[in-house]
Amino acid sequence: MPNKLRSHRSIKASIPSFRAIPSDFLWGASTAAYQIEGAPEADGRGPCIWDRYFKEKGHPGFGKDNGDVACAHYQRWHEDIELLKQLGLDSNRFSTSWSRIRPTGRGPGVNWRGLDFYSRLVDALLEAGITPFITLYHWDMPLALQHAEVGTRGWLDRDVGDHFADYAALMVKHLGDRINFWATVNEPEVIVAGYICDGLAPAYCQPSLGYQAGHNLLLAHGKALQAMRAATANRANQFGIVLNFNEIAPHRQTDMCRAAATRRWETAYAWYLDGLLRAFYPQSVLDRCAANGWDLNVQAGDMAIIAQALDWLGINWYTRFVVNEQGNDVSSDDVPRTLMGWEIDAPAFARTLIKLNGEYRLPPVYITENGAALKDRSRRGIVHDDHRIDYLHQHIRALEQAIVAGVDVRGYSVWSLLDNLEWSLGFSRTFGIVHVNRTNLNRTIKDSGIWYANVIAKHKHRA
Ligand code: FCB
Repeated sequence: MPNKLRSHRSIKASIPSFRAIPSDFLWGASTAAYQIEGAPEADGRGPCIWDRYFKEKGHPGFGKDNGDVACAHYQRWHEDIELLKQLGLDSNRFSTSWSRIRPTGRGPGVNWRGLDFYSRLVDALLEAGITPFITLYHWDMPLALQHAEVGTRGWLDRDVGDHFADYAALMVKHLGDRINFWATVNEPEVIVAGYICDGLAPAYCQPSLGYQAGHNLLLAHGKALQAMRAATANRANQFGIVLNFNEIAPHRQTDMCRAAATRRWETAYAWYLDGLLRAFYPQSVLDRCAANGWDLNVQAGDMAIIAQALDWLGINWYTRFVVNEQGNDVSSDDVPRTLMGWEIDAPAFARTLIKLNGEYRLPPVYITENGAALKDRSRRGIVHDDHRIDYLHQHIRALEQAIVAGVDVRGYSVWSLLDNLEWSLGFSRTFGIVHVNRTNLNRTIKDSGIWYANVIAKHKHRA
């Protein structure tokens, strides 16, 4: 670790140990293509739905923020790898932009310049001794596959799953010799939110479309796993998916309230895992569709495709929700929250991991995102973010408790390496352990980054 990081004695003095976390644990940081890359037209990249979203809708209150520049990672990726090295991270989770590889989302052509960008990135990561975790879809559907003018509707079109599987196989063919950890999609539940409400592309605002989009997305995931496994002979390749979970707690300990919380958990979160690990959907999901008259087109054989074996499961965790008898959110003022309004409750993280592990036969788990948007204070070139240190400390401790309770968690990746574009909230919510100056895009490791680097160094030293 460079002297610059070592010299922060005040932080170093209070570095906790996480003794129950295994010594071969992978400590990392996460990002996503649209949130950091910028360069929307470079080297033949095709537009994606977020380019369009910002052009059409913008976001009231957040000025002209969009992904055109983001963190200019496309130009400054060398520098970002240096940061990963300085932090002493074991792994780097990033996503690839589908429309850099296939500008219209479909084969058979390949935009080699786009693919080369990721190939160089992966080579440099490996040279730095950093394990790449790749996610093939972090919300940036190629616009040509989801464009009202040409009649395409993204995940609502079943054939988009075939195009996705084709792209996934192509990626494995070219990068599978160097990348072992592959995730198909990031957070289907949030992708689906883009179909049922505003605030996320494509912002269809049609609740009736949610489950169909979710089902087709899971089907695309299953087809992609089949195609990737057929495209590689490398036995070190491990295929998974990244799901997000929030604890759903009943507001009152009444039967009605508890039942509402269970329903919400099943219809928002558990149905993805049921589909993936059990090849069926919970009855509450089917009931909800029937009660609302929402047609769910599940064809013969779909569930078997969805339930391909998973080599690992990525879990993203941020917060918990408290619901009333009707299943609606109840918010109380007396709990700590992040700038997203998300309640900070690390014990709920441990509880959720333990619950999932008790209810399902989980494959090895990697925490693929966890972090907080909180207020930073910059003084004389130093970025202080004690609240983020507290948040990370509490959550890594909770994760350790889950490991003690028997959950097979093998890695933790903080969201996020960089202050980046928080989707429709623009740059107004910063999650980074590295500050990015919005004027000159210079990077400064925050106190939380220094703290995290020291946690990792201490953990390795012990091993
Ligand atoms: C997750 C997303 C990630 C980021 C964090 C704050 O849901 O996967 O891109 O926006 O939330």
